[in-house]
Amino acid sequence: MSATRHQPVLLAEVVAALGADNLGPRDGAIYVDGTFGAGGYTRAILEAANCTVFAIDRDPDAIAGADDLLRRYGARLQVIQGRFGDMLRLLRERGIETVQGVTLDLGVSSMQIDEAARGFSFRFDGPLDMRMEQAGESAADLVNHMAERPLADLIFTFGEEKKARRIAKAIVAARALAPITTTARLAEIVRRAIGPAGGAERIDPATRTFQALRIAVNDELGEIDRGLAAAETLLAPGGRMAIVSFHSLEDRRVKHFMREHAGRNPKGSRHLPETTASVPTLRLVTPQGIGPGDAEIAANPRARSARLRVAERLADGVAA
Ligand SMILES: C[S@@+](CC[C@H](N)C(=O)[O-])C[C@H]1O[C@@H](n2cnc3c(N)ncnc32)[C@H](O)[C@@H]1O
Repeated sequence: MSATRHQPVLLAEVVAALGADNLGPRDGAIYVDGTFGAGGYTRAILEAANCTVFAIDRDPDAIAGADDLLRRYGARLQVIQGRFGDMLRLLRERGIETVQGVTLDLGVSSMQIDEAARGFSFRFDGPLDMRMEQAGESAADLVNHMAERPLADLIFTFGEEKKARRIAKAIVAARALAPITTTARLAEIVRRAIGPAGGAERIDPATRTFQALRIAVNDELGEIDRGLAAAETLLAPGGRMAIVSFHSLEDRRVKHFMREHAGRNPKGSRHLPETTASVPTLRLVTPQGIGPGDAEIAANPRARSARLRVAERLADGVAA
């Protein structure tokens, strides 16, 4: 099947947020798009000002799709295959010490989800893969080799799935008959194990298990922590980070990081690792975050759960 083109979410809001007073990118400045995808944000930033964008994506397919934009924008666009968690090193290797803005649009693209061969979705049958980078341990490796208890913990923690123990038990029983190698078989095992979702929740019973495996395979939460810390270091005073997340696990991390570094959350959170920011380095631009309006949700249902959080880098030693 052919992959859908990714529709950028909260695009106007992200681009505006990258500039002081929400006035957007400015001429001569440098921005990082840490999740290039189909290039929706990158293109809009490059159109908004005569600036330079360093665009990073860990997926070789996304990088291969950058040719049109590279032809159009020449040296104003620098495309890098890598992880945004490594952005400090990636930028410093290219001689860049500070930037004016960093944006991250977390999670997977429509191209990745809709391509059966990538194995991200229970809606299509494909190999149980889920590796954004197309290298390393796949989801099949995890479900076929992890012991039952850690597998249950993984599904519980990264999928926020209350029935994780039952699911892990069913996976271990099924793989004793034959290795689990396809998305359709895993989805069927999960559906059989826990039955349809009750109450008002009408999501597929396999949703949370697939989310958990994807997060684990790609170390997505570790990447968020490293990416935010790198962005904070790279931003020049007055520079901004604009981060879009799609589920509560991501958003909680972003919110916590920004609050902590804005001096609002000094004791840390019960659910997250302790951090030790003492002097505030960030100012919260959107303390509550921003969601999409009704028109965007109607045009792009995938935008429904998106949340944008923006913070501005303070000069060292300035009170928030
Ligand atoms: C939601 S899409 C971004 C879409 C993009 N904003 C656009 O307008 O087309 C997320 C992209 O980020 C990439 N990605 C996810 N985690 C990453 C990481 N840690 N480092 C680099 N790229 C990552 C994925 O491969 C995917 O292409």
